[in-house]
Amino acid sequence: MHKTHTCGELRKTHVGETIQLAGWVHRRRDHGDLIFIDLRDRFGLVQLVADPETSPEAHQTLGRVRSEWVVQAEGVVRARPEEMINPNLETGEIEVEVHAVKVLNPSETPPFLINKEEEVDENVRLKYRYLDLRTPRMQRNLTLRHRVIKFIRDYLDEQGFLEIETPILFKTTPEGARDYLVPSRVHPGMVYALPQSPQQLKQMLMVAGIERYFQIARCFRDEDQRGDRQPEFTQLDIEMSFVEREDVIALIEGMYTKMVAEVVPHKRIFQTPWPRLSYTEAMERFGKDNPDIRYGLELVDLTDLAEGCGFGVFETAVEQGGHVRGINAKGLGNYSRKQIDALTDYVRTYGAKGLAYIILDPSGETRSPILKFFQADTIETIKARMGAEDGDLLLFVADKPEVVFDTLGRLRVHLAEELGLGDPDVLGFCWVIDFPFAFWDEEEKRWDPSHHLFTSPLPEDIALIDSAPEKMRGAQYDLVLNNNEVAGGSIRIHDQALQAKVFELIGLEKEVAAERFGHMLEAFQYGAPPHGGIASGIDRLVMLLADEDNIREVIAFPKNQNARDVMADAPTPAEPEQYKELHIKLDLPQEE
Ligand code: AMO
Ligand code: AMP
Repeated sequence: MHKTHTCGELRKTHVGETIQLAGWVHRRRDHGDLIFIDLRDRFGLVQLVADPETSPEAHQTLGRVRSEWVVQAEGVVRARPEEMINPNLETGEIEVEVHAVKVLNPSETPPFLINKEEEVDENVRLKYRYLDLRTPRMQRNLTLRHRVIKFIRDYLDEQGFLEIETPILFKTTPEGARDYLVPSRVHPGMVYALPQSPQQLKQMLMVAGIERYFQIARCFRDEDQRGDRQPEFTQLDIEMSFVEREDVIALIEGMYTKMVAEVVPHKRIFQTPWPRLSYTEAMERFGKDNPDIRYGLELVDLTDLAEGCGFGVFETAVEQGGHVRGINAKGLGNYSRKQIDALTDYVRTYGAKGLAYIILDPSGETRSPILKFFQADTIETIKARMGAEDGDLLLFVADKPEVVFDTLGRLRVHLAEELGLGDPDVLGFCWVIDFPFAFWDEEEKRWDPSHHLFTSPLPEDIALIDSAPEKMRGAQYDLVLNNNEVAGGSIRIHDQALQAKVFELIGLEKEVAAERFGHMLEAFQYGAPPHGGIASGIDRLVMLLADEDNIREVIAFPKNQNARDVMADAPTPAEPEQYKELHIKLDLPQEE
């Protein structure tokens, strides 16, 4: 070893010891004669001093080093004088008086400062990710990610789960995104698909009698990038045999509750047991199925008041099968016209035709351009239903149900951000259950499963499959945390007859099903146990625990928003020889 101690571990108890350290020059301060260096390694910072009188050579070397040079130093730990103690530094009570210093490697001047938290363009950070990862923030995030995964592994091991790896070169999986494909050299013209999740494989493991499986699994989905999406991301993937919905929910709830206490003890869970919302309730109260339950601003249904209310916009929307819903923006009755216009523009970008409003002035006056259309008693009913008080701002959208939910759901989050609601140290876990089993796809004229095609309907709803599929609920559950879906799963179909019925319902022809999922259907003929499972997005979970708002901040080497690795510069064209071996001829789009 080049060192006897880490930079972060030295304390008063080490005073007098001769030690060796190695790390990076974090900061250098020249104080006339004395030179101070903060030396950094992954475990912390420690101050080195060199005295020109006693150690002229060490002093000279320290005078020459620059930020991010790698040095090794030998010296004696000494207590700092009282007035020099740094309470903000764990090693702040001591310093190391060095008598020998060796430069192990100099460094170019880094493209950004490592020793200051400053705003740096993300593509620069990603290009020099190995430097970015040296920053305290990223070291914190990677450490937290490690702790979360370590906790999960230990916990599930104790609960009798086996961690089993499943292939990356596989066949298309049914998660509904686009596949990443890998052409086969050995089988010209054929491709493997990278798994969008280990869904089929974990179900096969249940047929294989594993009973309790988990994996920290990499998943690949070719979809448009967003802050909470990466082309490759990590799931905690779980599957269990002989379980019902309650068992899966209890496992995750127990595990994550303990994890929060151990890994992020400064955080608090909003409500225990975690609230459960039906899909319908989540939509009606929050406008989305991944709500933030930590604050109010809930949606209020006013659809029944629209007919004959006098305001054409509301009346027409409801006549055409739409809804009218509103949000009471508590305490925003002092919003200016300009601020309200900004809110209107906000909902317009998501497809609302407008944002009607009523201002309840703090002085008691009611102001609104739509007031004149309504009967006085309708306004009173609306106010009562919305719990309106002086000083509030009432906002309304009338439109097709999906537009009303989507725009008000987003507006609610937007208002909460403006109002600073939602303490980041509070974790609003909740379960969303009772999803519709399938949604009608008007364009394709067929039922589209709301989870994946192996998800079972709720046992009590199975009988509806022929008569009223629109009423059938899926045995599916999502775990939501502060506006993010952090896990999703379901109880699966293990009965062949039911699986065949579901394929029929969603318009998947027998031959197609056999071609795509024949291996599963076959496996299920050999005594498939009842089973179910869940997968939790590790990146999203760690992002929320780390108080970050982008999953790239908790992934060591993420792709940028354009799905590129800007450090290694990937993807890149292959060599002509490689395409040839794969029997691939390119047909590229014209350059613009
Ligand atoms: P699902 O598709 O809901 O379910 O995915 C489970 C969880 O994975 C996370 N997630 C993502 N995270 C980052 N980037 C992405 N592109 C991305 N896509 C999904 C989310 C989500 O809740 N096989 C099923 C699970 C099951 O049925 O057991 C599945 O993959 O947090
Ligand atoms: P207009 O009659 O178009 O001038 O709209 C009167 C008010 O109703 C304005 O504040 C609009 O923003 C609002 N508005 C228009 N269409 C809708 C709608 N579909 N839902 C809610 N408010 C609307």
